[in-house]
Amino acid sequence: MKKISVSFLSSKNEERDILRINASTADYIHVDVMDGKFVRKKNKPFKKLVKLSSSITKRLDVHLMEKNPLKNINYYASLNTEYITVHAELENLNKYLDLIKEYGIKCGVALNPDTDIEVIIPYLSKIDLVLVMSVNPGYGGQTFIDSTTKKILKLKKLLVSKKSKAKISVDGGINGEIAKRLDFVDIIVSGSYVVESDDFDEQIETLRKNASKK
Ligand code: DX5
Ligand code: ZN
Repeated sequence: MKKISVSFLSSKNEERDILRINASTADYIHVDVMDGKFVRKKNKPFKKLVKLSSSITKRLDVHLMEKNPLKNINYYASLNTEYITVHAELENLNKYLDLIKEYGIKCGVALNPDTDIEVIIPYLSKIDLVLVMSVNPGYGGQTFIDSTTKKILKLKKLLVSKKSKAKISVDGGINGEIAKRLDFVDIIVSGSYVVESDDFDEQIETLRKNASKK
């Protein structure tokens, strides 16, 4: 069964929507962190999550869109975090992956739409998750890039050929219709499709049902 991770990046009321995601049938709360350098926008959701931490029961799926994610790896390791994902485009990737592992947290590597899947090969022994960006990172509510589906198929073949058990996650522009195309994906990240609706569970169940058809 595919898992659903819900992003509150495009929420107009983050605290309310974090609690709504927490109360929904989502598997994870997807936390997007932006530094104003790796991507143009900047946000700091950590304080809000700390404030709400006694009410949050779901595990966090943290996506660090940052040039230097060191500080936030330390911060998010103190919360109920299952995955911390950093970008493959960074220098010193090994340093960040090692730190995440030292905390006993599962580590993910994210690939921008223009980044080739082969760049993950040297890191495969450490990687628990490959997050395929299906939009250019930095904004919610963008359109899913069609070529992502081919990239996922190639990635699945690569992981099988290297005997890697890493999970595949896809992030950006995913709605109920797009979910039908997402073979081989373990975790679907969806933001605006869920958060802009009045009924989170209905959208989440549509994603889960449509993604599981094949
Ligand atoms: C994009 C973020 C995504 C995004 C998902 O930079 O990493 O998590 O906010 O939101 P939607 O589903 O609206 O594209
Ligand atoms: Zn994300």
